[in-house]
Amino acid sequence: MLNLLLISAATALTALAAFPTQLVYQSPSGLFFENLAVRSCGKLLLTSVLSPTLHTLDPAVSNGTLEEVYTFPNGTSLTGIVEYQPDVYAVIVSSLDLTTRRAVLGTSAKLWRLELTSKAPAATPIAVVDSKLLNGLSAVPGLPDLVLAADSDIGAVYSINMRTGAARIALQDAAMAAGAPTPALGINGLRARDGALYFTNSEKRTFARVALAAGRGGVQQGGAVRVLGTTMPATSMYDDFAMDSEGRAWVATPPGAVTLLFPRANGTWGQELAAGDPAGGDDVFMQPSSGAFGRAERTEKTLYVTTGAGQVLSVNTGGGDV
Ligand SMILES: *[C@@H]1O[C@H](CO)[C@@H](O)[C@H](O)[C@H]1NC(C)=O
Ligand SMILES: *[C@@H]1O[C@H](CO)[C@@H](O)[C@H](O)[C@H]1NC(C)=O
Ligand SMILES: *[C@@H]1O[C@H](CO)[C@@H](O)[C@H](O)[C@H]1NC(C)=O
Repeated sequence: MLNLLLISAATALTALAAFPTQLVYQSPSGLFFENLAVRSCGKLLLTSVLSPTLHTLDPAVSNGTLEEVYTFPNGTSLTGIVEYQPDVYAVIVSSLDLTTRRAVLGTSAKLWRLELTSKAPAATPIAVVDSKLLNGLSAVPGLPDLVLAADSDIGAVYSINMRTGAARIALQDAAMAAGAPTPALGINGLRARDGALYFTNSEKRTFARVALAAGRGGVQQGGAVRVLGTTMPATSMYDDFAMDSEGRAWVATPPGAVTLLFPRANGTWGQELAAGDPAGGDDVFMQPSSGAFGRAERTEKTLYVTTGAGQVLSVNTGGGDV
């Protein structure tokens, strides 16, 4: 989300939360966690806009420690990460100015391939994208070479072929634009599933869906954007999110909450507070930035949430009231 705030260390977890929430990890240095991926082995991969180093954390270990996985050259910030083939990840590497929340003049975003299938990580630069801010990243079901990256600056979605390096704007829509000057962010998180692209727009405070159609070298926009939800209150904004097996979205909602958006039987969408405090007053989620579900049977209803204050929290989305 790239909102750099000075935040004190985590205090005791109080729960306004509807779903049980636990602090899994607190970075002692307040490392800003931007995004995450969950490996099939259960470990988390964590990106930070304050570091070119990808870190890993085993959430099953109590009081675990961050370990370095790989440090990308020629960048200072990592944003989106997604597994697009088994234990093979696309990672966005940039040099971001955290005041403007845009690339340092003269630098571009790069897509790297990071393969973790053998003992030593194998990293390969794949594409340079002339974007001031590539943010969230999604795989595309059925197109194993393709990833989609949200351009929060111009309000567009790039498709990047991770085999050939071909990168192009696949979708661009007013609903993806910030509609406000820098450092405002338009489209932020995105997930392709069931022939559609779900995305958040942070400045417009919206969660939306658009149909995907087959297009030149991948996908293109297949219909009009439909807004499915707007943040409440207006002082909160949607950041990146995870979708569960029922097609519901669990959206990191700074300053302090996780919002659940869900389809109703009549085709409209509802939303409710899933965890935290929308006003950010309870210090549980401090600037939540993204979420991802566990992969094992035991953890498939566990939502891991990263925050700008260097926290990793787990939300038991299968659990009842606290
Ligand atoms: C967690 O680890 C840190 C650093 O190793 C240590 O200082 C702290 O006491 C540990 N906390 C608990 C609850 O074990
Ligand atoms: C990093 O930047 C240096 C200097 O511009 C360049 O020579 C080198 O090829 C770059 N490395 C990568 C992996 O992009
Ligand atoms: C859909 O259902 C919700 C919840 O029951 C209701 O509030 C809403 O008015 C309904 N909308 C339509 C278009 O039927």
